[in-house]
Amino acid sequence: MLILGLETSCDETSAAFVEDGERVLSNIVASQVDLHSVYGGVVPEIACRAHIECVTGVIEEARREAGVELADIDGIAVTNGPGLIGALLIGVSAAKALALTLSKPLVGVNHIEAHLYAADFDKPVRFPAVGLVASGGHTSLFEMTKWTEMRLLGSTTDDAAGEAFDKVAKILGLGYPGGPAIQEAARRGNGKAAHFPRTFLDEHPLDFSFSGIKTAVLYRCQGHSRGRDLDSISLSDQERADIAAGFQEAMVDMIVANATRALEETGAQTLVVGGGVSANLLLRECLEVACQERAVELFLSPIGLCVDNGAMIAGLGYRLLAEGIESDLYLDAYPRMRA
Ligand code: KG4
Ligand code: ZN
Repeated sequence: MLILGLETSCDETSAAFVEDGERVLSNIVASQVDLHSVYGGVVPEIACRAHIECVTGVIEEARREAGVELADIDGIAVTNGPGLIGALLIGVSAAKALALTLSKPLVGVNHIEAHLYAADFDKPVRFPAVGLVASGGHTSLFEMTKWTEMRLLGSTTDDAAGEAFDKVAKILGLGYPGGPAIQEAARRGNGKAAHFPRTFLDEHPLDFSFSGIKTAVLYRCQGHSRGRDLDSISLSDQERADIAAGFQEAMVDMIVANATRALEETGAQTLVVGGGVSANLLLRECLEVACQERAVELFLSPIGLCVDNGAMIAGLGYRLLAEGIESDLYLDAYPRMRA
């Protein structure tokens, strides 16, 4: 089954052609990072305009690279939530137009669930599993019995993990997106020189909270500041690297602790990990150690498929269509859709 996957939920326009949920024939990602970086974050109106401008070109480039005709596809999968409403609608409209004109099945895909599917491209995931999604918009843990059945175990009560990386990078003057910049700066830093508190929530221990650590970083940096605005923070390169390292270690500790707790509570022998933050090398290393200690099999998304992409949408879309789950042309977009 050849599926076209479309992703436009945030600041990447992506189209991919994937066969049987396994073989990625093409995966074109048009990133808007350059358009948003001057603002230090994603500007929804700019994102929508950029999606409109390039969605058709991205689909055509993906088709050419895959060496297929649109008539060859067996279905179209599209992210229909959660995400920026205007951005989602562009992908959903494009997908509906194709489904209608080509007379092909259409299926709406949950973006968070699809992030987990990216791990399946590395090696086929075994169930039951715990799923961990850490991205710019979401940080969630799931109990999964199959690709189309997941139960939410916990999620962030405030900032998402990637959002915390992005905000801390902004405080440190490291630019956008923050995750890769912090990882790079942290290589030269000593985390012990900048210890930050880890937040664990007693009442709902599988939930996350990252706003405290962000504020702790801000307070520490304001100690090096002449005024209250971010521009007046002046840190030496070493201080900046130490704070990046200390922050990254604390983030990884919190994420790994909750993931291992979810494994213990569910008794699952498999951990599936996806989302932009799962590209973080320290997080990957620490998850590997934690899983080895517990004889749990770890399924990490390939680094190139951690951030938003159409391949993961096509992959999960294939599983849905294969189970007879299909959408009609009334398919809507949902900014807050739950997994
Ligand atoms: O999954 P994604 O593309 O977008 C959402 O669905 O939200 O994730 C983007 C997020 C950004 O916040 C970015 O800073 C973060 O993933 N990220 C990283 C790394 N690479 C990307 N965070 C930490 N370490 C990285 N290496
Ligand atoms: Zn995402």
